[in-house]
Amino acid sequence: MPRMRKKKNMDRRMEACRSIYFDEPMINRGRWRQVCGYEKSTKLMLELGCGKGDFVVGQAKRHPNRLFVAFEKEPTVILLAMENALRNECRNIYFVCADVVGLSEYFKPGEAEVIFINFCDPWTRQNKPKRRLTHRNCLEIYKSILRDDGEVFFKTDSEMLFDFSLEELSVSGFQVLEQTRDLHQSPFNVSNIRTEFEEKYAAEKIPIKWLHASPKMV
Ligand SMILES: C[S@@+](CC[C@H](N)C(=O)[O-])C[C@H]1O[C@@H](n2cnc3c(N)ncnc32)[C@H](O)[C@@H]1O
Repeated sequence: MPRMRKKKNMDRRMEACRSIYFDEPMINRGRWRQVCGYEKSTKLMLELGCGKGDFVVGQAKRHPNRLFVAFEKEPTVILLAMENALRNECRNIYFVCADVVGLSEYFKPGEAEVIFINFCDPWTRQNKPKRRLTHRNCLEIYKSILRDDGEVFFKTDSEMLFDFSLEELSVSGFQVLEQTRDLHQSPFNVSNIRTEFEEKYAAEKIPIKWLHASPKMV
């Protein structure tokens, strides 16, 4: 019985987040701004693997005129992120519970301006580089939905993943515009918004690697 009650409780909590959740994101392809009630000129910002949502909530509060769409593949985790957004009265974030490999089904070419990837799994122990969200296969997907002058911001605690990502970005024709291997001690920290994982690594004194990249102009 406790299991059923847990599920019922989760359904009730999901229902309370109905207004900020899209379960058929492909229907919005090419018209996210319109569907969410924003002007054509509104900046569309995506976070991939948003976790419990502290980062996207911080961004959305800082930029109330921008539209945010946060992706997270775990239903129990995205529920916490949505509750976080509602608690903070953020009206400019929408959520999608899906794997980011499907992004080009949800966005038209050039539809998004910015992609944030924060502390994605390095897949070190399993040695599965193709699963990393900065693998060239993923970067090609991001490039296809970003504007030519679009931006990718990436943070990690992993030196290995950071090196790997720099290589993959180069192979995929992205230009790295700015980077640091110790974000919290760098000038870029002024505008930084910390994620849940980042707080944990900061407490352990692990330097945060950060970069800002753009699809290269030809
Ligand atoms: C290590 S956590 C980091 C969470 C948050 N970004 C932070 O920095 O605190 C990575 C999150 O990304 C989600 N995730 C991993 N791969 C994903 C994918 N392919 N599509 C969507 N979400 C993904 C995981 O479920 C997890 O919640």
